[in-house]
Amino acid sequence: MRSLFKFRRGPSGNSQKITMMAEDKQKDEYHGTVPRHVAIIMDGNGRWAKKRLMPRIAGHRAGVDSVRAVVQRCGEVGVSALTLFAFSSENWRRPESEVGLLMELFLVALQRESKKLDQNNVRLRVIGDRSRFSEKLQQEIVNAECLTADNSGLVLSVAANYGGRWDIAQAARQVAEQVKAGSIEPAAVDETLLGQYMTLAALPEPDLFIRTGGEQRISNFLLWQLAYSELFFTDTLWPDFKQDAFDLALQSFTSRQRRFGRTGDQVEENKRA
Ligand code: FPP
Repeated sequence: MRSLFKFRRGPSGNSQKITMMAEDKQKDEYHGTVPRHVAIIMDGNGRWAKKRLMPRIAGHRAGVDSVRAVVQRCGEVGVSALTLFAFSSENWRRPESEVGLLMELFLVALQRESKKLDQNNVRLRVIGDRSRFSEKLQQEIVNAECLTADNSGLVLSVAANYGGRWDIAQAARQVAEQVKAGSIEPAAVDETLLGQYMTLAALPEPDLFIRTGGEQRISNFLLWQLAYSELFFTDTLWPDFKQDAFDLALQSFTSRQRRFGRTGDQVEENKRA
């Protein structure tokens, strides 16, 4: 991924502290704490299209441009993981025609974008229950995951037919099987162990959660993993969410004091130590 920036890494804490200087554009300057993992609910595609008297699918199509812009910006500022909620377990309740067109859009996006993601060193993963997708879509997902599996840059996880409760249930099911087989003692089942079976176990938990489109709820996204994430809600509709809007969310993250249950004084003391 071509970087517009020269950047300098500062002292590392829970997040990477980096200072950036734009080579060419003043507006690209970014000074702040960069979250390691950003999770986003991309909401507002339908309303964006409606405002323009266009069909809802036009909003989803325009949303793909925002995905591209945010993936690029993550690469530029040094975010190491991005997780996007593309289709929830509940989205099957939408009109059949919209679901069909969305599936087609995912297929085309995978076919068109996976080569570019690979060239930009992005590792793509799809999380969720894919068994309900068409054979063709499932195959395209496997192809894209295999193509990008060895990349060492941004980890892009796309949540599709995903639900936070589903994730916890599938982890519990795996643990139950191990207990039944005798390889785990029931007394050994704790938060750390269960966490190892969650779909994003290999990644740090999201530091920053963003929801576009004006609603202020989690909607069964990463219920387990968002326990300590900073939450950022914006009225901006997803197809309008590009670099400037993303930078506002990053700036807001920079201003938060993350305490993880400790007092503010303890956090400040830790920083000085
Ligand atoms: C929510 O907006 C959006 C979705 C259910 C689909 C998101 C999909 C994309 C952005 C397409 C591309 C994604 C990838 C990763 C290839 P909404 O339809 O609920 O909007 P509304 O609340 O305005 O009706």
